[in-house]
Amino acid sequence: MKQIKAALLGFGTVGTGVVKAFADNADLLRQRLDAEVVLTRIATRDIERSRGVEVAPGVLTQDVDSILVDPDIDLVIELMGGYEPARTYILKAIAHGKDVVTANKALLALHGPEIFEAARKAGVDVFYEAAVAGAIPVITAIRENLGVNRFQSVFGILNGTCNYILTRMTDEGADFAEVLEDAQTQGYAEADPTFDVEGIDAAHKLSVLISLCFGTPVDFDQIYTEGIGAISALDIQFAREFGYKIKLLAICKEDGGRIEARVHPTMLPQGHPLSDVDGVFNAVRIMGDFSGPIMLSGRGAGMEATAGAVMGDVMAAVRNRHRDASGRSPACGYRSDAIRSLDIKPMDEIQSHYYLRFMARDQPGVLGQIAGILGGEGIGIARMIQTERHVENTVPVVILTHDTCEANIRAALAQIDALDVVGEPSRLIRIEASLD
Ligand code: NDP
Ligand code: HSE
Repeated sequence: MKQIKAALLGFGTVGTGVVKAFADNADLLRQRLDAEVVLTRIATRDIERSRGVEVAPGVLTQDVDSILVDPDIDLVIELMGGYEPARTYILKAIAHGKDVVTANKALLALHGPEIFEAARKAGVDVFYEAAVAGAIPVITAIRENLGVNRFQSVFGILNGTCNYILTRMTDEGADFAEVLEDAQTQGYAEADPTFDVEGIDAAHKLSVLISLCFGTPVDFDQIYTEGIGAISALDIQFAREFGYKIKLLAICKEDGGRIEARVHPTMLPQGHPLSDVDGVFNAVRIMGDFSGPIMLSGRGAGMEATAGAVMGDVMAAVRNRHRDASGRSPACGYRSDAIRSLDIKPMDEIQSHYYLRFMARDQPGVLGQIAGILGGEGIGIARMIQTERHVENTVPVVILTHDTCEANIRAALAQIDALDVVGEPSRLIRIEASLD
């Protein structure tokens, strides 16, 4: 039986899961593949520390370069994370004719086109199923099974850490910092967890999905990105009272040749399938012209869930290499001469329903002032409540708007925040009433 040799770069949470999968499910790999795949080298910085899995002598190394130039190695699995040196290592592996499997969405969001073009020229595969939504096979689904569709929208709960934090804050009233620490211990969070909580990780993943769905490179800085750091227990409680749940949602909509691309906390109606996706689970809802709505959900982070997705890619790469068919399918889903440039719609132009919370002095006329400013900007009020819950000298005034334009909301909030009767800056959370 032909032998395909693989090497792993990075022996952390996911890398350890991959080593475990090679060992624990070796029988399945043998039963499902025509070629034998062997993990021959593992590069990591600290080769002394035990990772709780057995590694044969001589497999561990600190010398990444020796792997990249080794003609016997067919496949490099990059699980180090970060931009550099991961980018350089991947490009070097490709230049030496190796297929690459990676889970590095940060790298792909910023340098995907460069890596994919290098792979195309070299005739090798770059697979990255684990980079978006952990165990959910959304990359393959879009690239292969749904390939004939013109996509209209993609909505995703794409960050397991944030979903875990928001779920525990909602269900248990848990403290943000404590739950984040727990997510780190469980291996869900990025090496730098601000990528998770500030929405950057979800935006990286959204950028990858947009390229795949629309065949357009995305200028990452143009994705509007807002994290969950400002979500308070008070907003979670009001959301519940109004029949919503707060999720960090990644949203992409095609709109007349432009793309709406944003990541922010979003109120979703309770009972909607996406609002019921809790804990470390992710979900992606895709609307295609032929498929109609499709929703996939599953574990979005963690050792086994992610390693499973990496191994699916390893198996695909082995199958292709075994048949000398590496590079048969473009990594970004489109032929290089079909890649086009679509503009991202400016945030000011988006339309949404909004939850607005003002902390206002409890005195006559305040509601009138706020409502007057909103009316002056053409913003219709759908629901409004003022409660007796005093916070220092103020009370929360909560307003849900009708569908309106972000620019009008911003203009109104600037005027309201300048009022003497309003304490802390107002709070805005967008509402997605329907996901079509
Ligand atoms: P970890 O931080 O747990 O592991 C990273 C590993 O890479 C460590 O073993 C580290 O070495 C090694 N490493 C880092 N820099 C170098 C270097 N310069 N040379 C050699 N080795 C290096 O990360 P994760 O396993 O969590 O994540 C890996 C990748 O998978 C990232 O791209 C991440 O975004 C992605 N991912 C992670 C998910 C998760 O749930 N954790 C889910 C989906 C994707 P050492 O340990 O020796 O210091
Ligand atoms: N830190 C990421 C998350 C890992 O929490 O979703 C999975 O990509």
